[in-house]
Amino acid sequence: MQTTGIPLVIGNWKMNPLTESAAVTLAKEVLTISKKAKHARVVVVPPALYIPAVSKVARTTVLGLGVQHVVPGPVGAVTGEISGAMAQPYGITYAIVGHSEQRALGVTDEQVAATVAMLIKIGITPVICVGERERDSRADFYSLIASQIKTALAAIPKTKYKQIVIAYEPIWAIGTGKTATPADVQEMRLFINKVITDLAGRPAAKAVTVLYGGSVTKDNALSLWQEGQVDGFLVGGASLKGEDFATIIASTK
Ligand code: PGA
Repeated sequence: MQTTGIPLVIGNWKMNPLTESAAVTLAKEVLTISKKAKHARVVVVPPALYIPAVSKVARTTVLGLGVQHVVPGPVGAVTGEISGAMAQPYGITYAIVGHSEQRALGVTDEQVAATVAMLIKIGITPVICVGERERDSRADFYSLIASQIKTALAAIPKTKYKQIVIAYEPIWAIGTGKTATPADVQEMRLFINKVITDLAGRPAAKAVTVLYGGSVTKDNALSLWQEGQVDGFLVGGASLKGEDFATIIASTK
């Protein structure tokens, strides 16, 4: 089920670290790691304020750079936000869209869809986060995931599906130390494939990169990789520790 593409491991730094110089130090450490990890594509996603500084480290290297949250732009009266078009000149090639921490602040499925459409238009890869708050015994969460995916992709031509990354991030697993089991992850991967196959056919579904995120650690990454059948990971907390992140990247070999 894993796509034939190379594994993708994204470090979402969230609102960390406290200073720009610590961000640059971490970026340099991850750059060293990613130079050694030739089998995988490694991406860091710092807070927007640090993008210019981290960009100087990552530019013209193997290390990819992403942005945590953007709104459709390119410009406008939207206090506190930035657009993908503003981030792009800094070498941004990925943008996280609809992270549950942003959805909790009010980002809707419709905003996710508009942002995804804008990103595809300008050539930035959207990393679309989907995930349930909890797992109900009737498994209704599957329809929630299907609806999140269908809405997010509504405005995207099928020919562009190969530029899409979907990150399955169950909210109950984010930053909690509770991880979905490799079997849960594999089941969800198959389900996501089915949703996309229904939308756009099998080849389109095969082209979409699917990641798992939610308390991925150096200790569980290998089994999630081997059994979960995903194409990589979206890592929060553990991406702030170089050694742990290196182990997670190595597990995707
Ligand atoms: P976590 O975060 O690895 O700290 O659980 C993952 C995420 O929110 O992307």
